[in-house]
Amino acid sequence: MKIVRAQLRQFRNHDCTELDFGMTTNALLGDNGHGKTNILEALSFLCLTKSFYASSDAIVLQQGKDFFELRGTLLSDVGVEHDVRIVYESQTNHKKVFIDGKEPATFSSVIGQFPIVVLSPENSNITFGTPSDRRRFMDLVVAQSSRVYVEDVLEYRKALRQRNKILSDISRNGGSSALLEPWNETLVLHGSKVLLKRVRFFEEFAPYIMRAYAAIAHELETPQVEYVPNVETAPHDSPDVVGERFKAKLEEKKRDELRIGSTLVGPHRDEVAFSLNGLQLRAYASQGQHKTFLVALKVAEFFYLKERCAETPVVLLDDVFTELDGTRSQKLIALIESLGQTFITTTSEHVFHETIHWDDGRRRFTIHNGAAVQHDHEAAA
Ligand SMILES: Nc1ncnc2c1ncn2[C@@H]1O[C@H](COP(=O)(O)OP(=O)(O)O)[C@@H](O)[C@H]1O
Ligand SMILES: [Mg+2]
Repeated sequence: MKIVRAQLRQFRNHDCTELDFGMTTNALLGDNGHGKTNILEALSFLCLTKSFYASSDAIVLQQGKDFFELRGTLLSDVGVEHDVRIVYESQTNHKKVFIDGKEPATFSSVIGQFPIVVLSPENSNITFGTPSDRRRFMDLVVAQSSRVYVEDVLEYRKALRQRNKILSDISRNGGSSALLEPWNETLVLHGSKVLLKRVRFFEEFAPYIMRAYAAIAHELETPQVEYVPNVETAPHDSPDVVGERFKAKLEEKKRDELRIGSTLVGPHRDEVAFSLNGLQLRAYASQGQHKTFLVALKVAEFFYLKERCAETPVVLLDDVFTELDGTRSQKLIALIESLGQTFITTTSEHVFHETIHWDDGRRRFTIHNGAAVQHDHEAAA
């Protein structure tokens, strides 16, 4: 997939910004705070219907305005152009998505159609942060590769919220635990499918990480990734078997749940364990190993999605060179250039000097004060 063109209206600090992209590399240059990351965020909206990091649509709306609009022309690998338009209105707090003029049945049905891989400073959470940071990483990869997964996750979260509300009520005011019954059913039904999908995903994903890590690191280090469920689940189990174990575990923890007032069993409490040569990454790895692991995860994500979605993901790199030395930066640029279309934000253009010759496919834009200016490139000159 390629992003041919994008238009941002009243989105963050971009009042009205239009960009015609190169098909290989796009550098977004400029000083801090001028709106480079905001452009990547807009691209993630066009591909996923949502931001890769903002928690709500209202936040990205330009201060003082009552709507934002994004438009994009996306080109699939087989050469079909899609016109994507997203409009959000503050008055109704409502977002509408149009693909080729038609509204999709659900936002989640769009996820995976235009796959993207993002590497941004917040991503250091994936290896340094909490289990929930790792689950979020995993969820976005699995969601882009499986439509039913998104639906099961949404249903599961809904049941979890309801169930937690009832548990919290009972823990504070007392009441009958029979109220939980209907929510137990939904929780177990969707939770078992989420569990199985995640366990199977990691079985498939592990070799991708091994390959990516070996390509990036020189040392003889072997990465391991493992999904650690709190309800025993193996890749070849049936959903029914997992469901039975889930129910039994809920029964076992019932007293604790009623006392604490929240759900203690299920995939929302699982861990994703990363290690190198058998040593847990979080506890033992150096800064450099963390960084290498993260880049390997992202490269693995790229190839995994490319195969699963039968569509080449677009790569968004936000400020990734700040912590890398010159040689590593150039290696990363060379690697990324071989993948597909990339969007790279940076304050210092010099990282490209040795590696990239700007032409029609490799374009530079300077982002200043919420506006973008494209540099003259060789083909246009
Ligand atoms: N909702 C918003 N409305 C208007 N401006 C915003 C909004 N959200 C963020 N900004 C502005 O966007 C700028 C940051 O843009 P960003 O893309 O993060 O910069 P950078 O070029 O450093 O990546 C800041 O000046 C911030 O005030
Ligand atoms: Mg930024």
